[in-house]
Amino acid sequence: MAKIFLTRAIPEQALQLLIDAFGENEVEVYPHDQIIPRDELEKAVHGREAVLCMLTDPWDAKMFDAAGASLKVLANCAVGYNNIQVDAASERNVTVTNTPDVLTEATADLAWTLIMGASRRSGEAERYLRAGKWGSWSPNFMLGNEIYGKTLGIYGMGRIGRATARRALGFNMKVIYHSRTQRSAEEEGSLNASYVSFDELLEQSDVLSIHSPLLPETTGLFGAEEFSKMKDTAVLVNTSRGPVVQEAALAQALKNGDIGFAGIDVFEKEPEIHPELLDCENALLLPHIGSATLETRTAMAYLAVENIIAVLNGKTPPTPVN
Ligand code: NAP
Ligand code: GLV
Ligand code: GLV
Repeated sequence: MAKIFLTRAIPEQALQLLIDAFGENEVEVYPHDQIIPRDELEKAVHGREAVLCMLTDPWDAKMFDAAGASLKVLANCAVGYNNIQVDAASERNVTVTNTPDVLTEATADLAWTLIMGASRRSGEAERYLRAGKWGSWSPNFMLGNEIYGKTLGIYGMGRIGRATARRALGFNMKVIYHSRTQRSAEEEGSLNASYVSFDELLEQSDVLSIHSPLLPETTGLFGAEEFSKMKDTAVLVNTSRGPVVQEAALAQALKNGDIGFAGIDVFEKEPEIHPELLDCENALLLPHIGSATLETRTAMAYLAVENIIAVLNGKTPPTPVN
């Protein structure tokens, strides 16, 4: 049995790096282009030394037990690792790694795709055009929100939050943020960003973009009460994890006019979307494609592979989580 198992195919060059390092017989890839079902995953990981997994694979204590004592490294091909119970890994001396930094700019670009697209109604406008409904240019047609000079709020001022804030300089925006830790004065200066309370972030943001991880304290954080504190023109953008936002409450807020628009890349129960949200013309919805560029997905796969190679060779991996 191959000592390395990949739960899904990755870009060819990165796979080749793994084959060059350990030989073809030591590398096995799940052959189907789908999420490996849980029962199959439990069987497939048994006796492996390394597993390269996706954010869609659930790694709880039971899964680590299924893998058994041979497992040395679990390399998540994502920066977010809320799919992995890290304590359970540490207790069993399994190194967990993720893919930070390499996807920061691509994901910030997608946050901006949603900021601009939701504010200017691009999804709705395109649906309208393709449906053959467009009559003529008109002064009152498809009016959205201006972005230039407005206030951008960032929730979670980490790598992607900062990259998203940096792009706002070009739009002459005021940047405010709330996060677990306040950034240094120097960093705040370079981003032209000020720290505010969570309530101030809700009340003052014209665009509020979420970039925190999914943690117990961020689960369901944005709900009806939070939306009611936001501007009725506000644009809510989420490229973090779906469960940070209560999807049913978001749909309600978009329908009631508690907020103006939403741009959403991540959902509570992917790939399911709350039916009421699907009904909202003022929501721009994308299928979790934050890091989906050829360059970035290739870099993520390389990094996941480098993490595996390092651990199996007894070295410190480039990006460990535990
Ligand atoms: P990061 O650098 O760790 O940034 C997360 C930030 O959130 C940190 O500044 C952290 O604070 C802050 N934070 C932690 N707990 C918080 C809390 N309870 N309240 C407020 N802020 C809190 O991570 P990243 O690389 O920017 O990635 C952020 C998230 O984006 C990932 O966890 C992942 O879920 C998501 N993501 C999604 C996609 C996509 O395809 N849509 C792509 C990449 C990433 P400290 O500074 O104190 O640590
Ligand atoms: C994608 O969602 C990631 O966390 O890398
Ligand atoms: C619009 O197309 C304009 O020229 O103002």
